[in-house]
Amino acid sequence: MLQSIFCGLPLAALETVEAAGESWVSMNLIMAAYLVSGILFLLSLGGLSSQESAKRGAVFGIVGMALAIVATFYLPQVGGSPLAIGMMVVGGAIGLVLAKRVEMTAMPQLVAILHSFVGLAAVLIGFASYLDSSHVLVGTERTVHYIEIFLGVLIGAVTFTGSVIAYGKLDGKIGSSPLILPGRHLLNLGIGLVCIWLGVMFVGSETLAEGMWPLLGMTVLALVFGVHMVMAIGGADMPVVISMLNSYSGWAASATGFMLHNDLLIITGALVGSSGAILSIIMCQAMNRSFISVIMGGFGTQSASAGGGGEDQGEVQAITAEETAELIRQAKTIVVVPGYGMAVSHAQHPVSELAKRLRAAGKTFQFAIHPVAGRMPGHMNVLLAEAKVPYDIVLEMDEINDDLPEADVVIVIGANDIVNPSALEEPDSPIAGMPVLEVWKAGTVIVSKRSMATGYAGVQNPLFFKENTRMLFGDAKASVDGILAALGELAPHGKSKQTAGV
Ligand code: TAP
Repeated sequence: MLQSIFCGLPLAALETVEAAGESWVSMNLIMAAYLVSGILFLLSLGGLSSQESAKRGAVFGIVGMALAIVATFYLPQVGGSPLAIGMMVVGGAIGLVLAKRVEMTAMPQLVAILHSFVGLAAVLIGFASYLDSSHVLVGTERTVHYIEIFLGVLIGAVTFTGSVIAYGKLDGKIGSSPLILPGRHLLNLGIGLVCIWLGVMFVGSETLAEGMWPLLGMTVLALVFGVHMVMAIGGADMPVVISMLNSYSGWAASATGFMLHNDLLIITGALVGSSGAILSIIMCQAMNRSFISVIMGGFGTQSASAGGGGEDQGEVQAITAEETAELIRQAKTIVVVPGYGMAVSHAQHPVSELAKRLRAAGKTFQFAIHPVAGRMPGHMNVLLAEAKVPYDIVLEMDEINDDLPEADVVIVIGANDIVNPSALEEPDSPIAGMPVLEVWKAGTVIVSKRSMATGYAGVQNPLFFKENTRMLFGDAKASVDGILAALGELAPHGKSKQTAGV
């Protein structure tokens, strides 16, 4: 989000100071503040790489951004500008209200729509920069500036419409199944080639009017491409789309930085762009997808048909909270797999209490976190940290998958796709090849969910029908509260002070 703030500032605000005759010293101070902000952003990213240091990382980011904003206000064209201050107050107030109102589960939508603002800002700044007649550039300088404008508007326009569509899909306003147009790859290729041709026309244009139509033509094509690109991506691949658009928004901001000659914006954009790209690749690996095939779209096409619509796969065995408590009482090793449903029902606090009680009773209790559990990267880690679950019992999929056969009981709380064996067993499944938590290898698997409904990818889950699986139907928070009530206080060696209901 760093780049949103800078892209939101009026073009005039970020122009060079010489024109205003500002002193060299104050400009040097501003540059020094920008440098310190850049370093703080780097430290922030470093801090965010682990849970223990994440808070510190966030603080570095906040201080860096505050410093950058203050420094920007000292730029001569901004100093005292009621327009800049007014826009920041209005924007800040809207941001504050939105951030307070938004549910954790709706964060990806919020992030997507914020990316669209960055894209739109890059487009508008590109046009403003083109129309700005205060600097007359010639020769190579002019060519480079035109290339910056063209690329900035191109990336910005793709980011803008792509993010709006991603917002619609994540919010359920647009269906999550991919839109597969006939000859879509040819269409994309055609758009790409026409954009290159328009770019050559734009850079070679002699007058403002002559360059305007290729710029406008490319903008329209890039807006269409953004819509088409994200519409073609299926629900199961949406996590990658979010991080990919995050990356695009960074590059759009960076291009804007080049247009405005603002070093901090270039640095910030490049940090966001490259970290988003790295995250996209990590997530592709976690889902066993190639990055190229995700952005070419079409995955999840069969989600409504192949193993999809919840067809009958046999009988499921239901279990009550009291029976679950009894199973847990007998178990030595318990693993909890949290998913989107835990976030929706806010079950993290009773789950944390369950962990506390069972660990105090001498049992081994761990959490198994899938990289795409929930609706955004790190979603489960944030919820568990908020509920004060100790970090050392929260294990990533790769760290715990091999140990799952040794677990006596695995409790799956509001998770579905990430524990679906068809990812490994059914080559035709829309989620085929995605690494999953192999919970069915444990002694007993308890699945807490409200119904037999499918998860985000729309795929039925054979786990529910397995011999060693028990379905604990109901809202996750109510179910865990029920287990806690039935469990009562546990003696250190697992002997309950309260008689269980079964
Ligand atoms: P899902 O596969 O979406 O399954 C969540 C399950 O939670 C649903 O089957 C639902 O079943 C249950 N549920 C919903 N509300 C509940 C409640 N109040 N109490 C109890 N259960 C409830 O989630 P997952 O296993 O976490 O997998 C994540 C999926 O989301 C993957 O397909 C992933 O690709 C996708 N995705 C991930 C991200 C990131 S980056 N993490 C972003 C976008 C999409 P009932 O309706 O029957 O209760």
